[in-house]
Amino acid sequence: MKSTFENFTLIDHPLIKRDVTILRDEKTTPELFRGAVHRISNILAVEIGRSFKISETTVETPLERTAGYQLVQEVVLVPVLRAGLGMVSGFLEIIPDAKAGHILLQRDEVTLKPVGYYYKTPRNIDNSTVILLDPMLATGGSGSEAIKYLKDHGAKNLVFACLVAAPEGITKLMNDHPDIKIYGAALDRELNNKGYILPGLGDAGDRTFGTL
Ligand code: PRP
Ligand code: URA
Repeated sequence: MKSTFENFTLIDHPLIKRDVTILRDEKTTPELFRGAVHRISNILAVEIGRSFKISETTVETPLERTAGYQLVQEVVLVPVLRAGLGMVSGFLEIIPDAKAGHILLQRDEVTLKPVGYYYKTPRNIDNSTVILLDPMLATGGSGSEAIKYLKDHGAKNLVFACLVAAPEGITKLMNDHPDIKIYGAALDRELNNKGYILPGLGDAGDRTFGTL
């Protein structure tokens, strides 16, 4: 479903709505939180996969040769650590032959600017479909920084998959990277004065890994 933002596709699905409610609930344990992130990531992977290009091939069934299909482009998943790690298993379940890179960014709690610690992505991602995974798109600083790194390393076909997005973050990505499509499970109201998404779900990394 298209949202009011040209660059943002809100995945409107009853199962996503149920699972986003589980994520928002302050009483949800890390175990149940990770389960809901996994299931939403499954659905996001299916939806993002709609735009993948396929080519025809043939396949031998036990009975005869018939037409088949294969993905044209390699898929590279790039979670932004920590919280993006929770989305990897759900995407890999749907795209098991995807490769993965990792970017470790930490948002400075005062300036809200991302600080980069670690970057590792597969070589030659120029022709790959690169899916950046980060559950929270808040100010957009982390997302914008990660996209810049991936573009600097050759990525041309790049999408951003998140769970909860704030209008401020979507607008920043639209200004910094107008070519990037964002897919999300929820579009929330606004940021508070500490850069947290409202109503949101709190700190996604802490809730995923129980570090509250
Ligand atoms: C969270 C989240 C994003 C970032 C979003 O990470 O996973 O990476 O904040 O905020 P922004 O859009 O304002 O940049 P955080 O820095 O809290 O690290 P964590 O994953 O280790 O919790
Ligand atoms: N990062 C989070 O984990 N949650 C927010 O609400 C904003 C940034």
